[in-house]
Amino acid sequence: MKVPFVDLKRQYETIKREIDHAIADCIEHSAFVQGKRVQQFEKAFANYLQVNYVIGCANGTDAIFLSLKALGIRQGDEVITSANTFIATSEAISMTGAKVVFVDVDQNTNNLNVNTVEAKITEHTKAIVPVHLYGYPADMLELQIIAQKYHLRIVADAAQAHGSEINGESIAKFADITTYSFFPGKNLGAFGDAGAVATNDRHIADYIDKLRNHGRTEKYVHDFEGVNMRMDEMQGAILLAKLSFLNEWTAQRRSHAAYYNENLKGIGDVIISYDDPNVTAVYHLYVIETSQRDALQRHLSENGIATGIHYPIPLPLQPAYAYLKMSSTDIPVSSHKAKQILSLPMFPEITKDEQDFVIENIKQFFRKG
Ligand SMILES: Cc1ncc(COP(=O)(O)O)c(C=O)c1O
Repeated sequence: MKVPFVDLKRQYETIKREIDHAIADCIEHSAFVQGKRVQQFEKAFANYLQVNYVIGCANGTDAIFLSLKALGIRQGDEVITSANTFIATSEAISMTGAKVVFVDVDQNTNNLNVNTVEAKITEHTKAIVPVHLYGYPADMLELQIIAQKYHLRIVADAAQAHGSEINGESIAKFADITTYSFFPGKNLGAFGDAGAVATNDRHIADYIDKLRNHGRTEKYVHDFEGVNMRMDEMQGAILLAKLSFLNEWTAQRRSHAAYYNENLKGIGDVIISYDDPNVTAVYHLYVIETSQRDALQRHLSENGIATGIHYPIPLPLQPAYAYLKMSSTDIPVSSHKAKQILSLPMFPEITKDEQDFVIENIKQFFRKG
């Protein structure tokens, strides 16, 4: 048996009719960029997230950039974010001209460790960008307290966390702005690049609405110089069609995660995915930890099981951030985890047989010693 890491084709086959119709409709009407289907999706996603406004854009990286710009972040400012995330998060900070300030991650959640944040706050700090990594909510309640104390803004990167909740409430309610990516493999994925920002603040929403589209108020009238970071109409139509399935897919992911947790507990030195009853994690990724990560990954690969590492090098240790002169001792938890984390196959349509095959192969690896 071969077990893929994700299988987007399998999902397409279950909703082919809806997707094909959405695409054909755009072509039929020659509607290609930021039209009424994008608007319909924005409304539907805002409703889904329980926020007042969603503004679609070109991708999740742009969503973070647009958000920071809307908050006035610019050169000379500092923005705190997590050492373990995809580089898009910190790239978007740098794109504004601000300085990226990395903090270490929490031992359990893999998210930015709120206890390390205050020590990094200076007179230049303007914002914090927590990342709801793997679909597990960052500790927003503590971050809100810190943000209030130091008058900082919060832009939360929810590229991997569509539908995550804290105490039964949408994570999008806990930040000034929450950003989403709809990269194809995400929990809600487009058929190409797309992203969005979510906020309850009308002024922020209005500003980003213009900023993403050349500062435009109406055709050939521009309040200011903006950018072209619009969402394609076909992506809006596809996302609108897929949104109605998201709750079902999330429930499937959570059920698969529970099954992994139940069956991988106590095997070798495997640390199963962290779970807290007060949050709803949406398992964009299902991540275990083991000191024998590389050998286990090889064993699984030899047996036809695809896995991933998210991420193998903490951002402060990447060549791109050599100028920060940080070392692994500055981020001990992230550095340690980078050698231990392993993402197992996880997607709504994965079968029990496939999960059993993964579990059996992990057991076999540790039995062999
Ligand atoms: C945590 C995180 N932030 C930001 C992004 C950027 O999203 P996009 O690829 O849509 O620009 C991604 C997606 O790859 C991500 O995983």
